Amino acid sequence: MAAETDWAQLLELARDAMTYAYAPYSNYPVGAAALVDDGRFVVGCNVENASYGLGLCAECGLISSLIAGGGGRLIAFACVDRRGTHLMPCGRCRQLLFEHGGPALLVATEDGPISLAELLPRAFGPEDLHAADAS
Ligand code: THU
Repeated sequence: MAAETDWAQLLELARDAMTYAYAPYSNYPVGAAALVDDGRFVVGCNVENASYGLGLCAECGLISSLIAGGGGRLIAFACVDRRGTHLMPCGRCRQLLFEHGGPALLVATEDGPISLAELLPRAFGPEDLHAADAS
């Protein structure tokens, strides 16, 4: 289990990742950073496409990086817009985060960290599939 989250560091990493965003269509760069349970950090930025609907959120890149780097459980997460201000993950990304962090994942907000359970109550997740298998 990782040591206590350094939220300032996490925010800095998200802000740094945001500067690499490829967002020429929305002009809305996003950066995300997370602490993994083995102590490493993963980051992501949004990557848009001329075929608009194919754009990838910053969280998608972050999750890919998590898995490509060996996997693990997300402990703490922060996401920022171009001002470096906290941004709440979109609905699809809440579900992506839930898969790899569960309800206990802490998400940075301007009022302090809140749990993913608060952002995605009564979520559907891997447990539901296993429960159906068993019956
Ligand atoms: N975006 C993210 O990267 N993450 C979110 O959680 C919300 C939205 C991106 C998608 C798109 O490239 C831009 O922000 C504007 O919606």
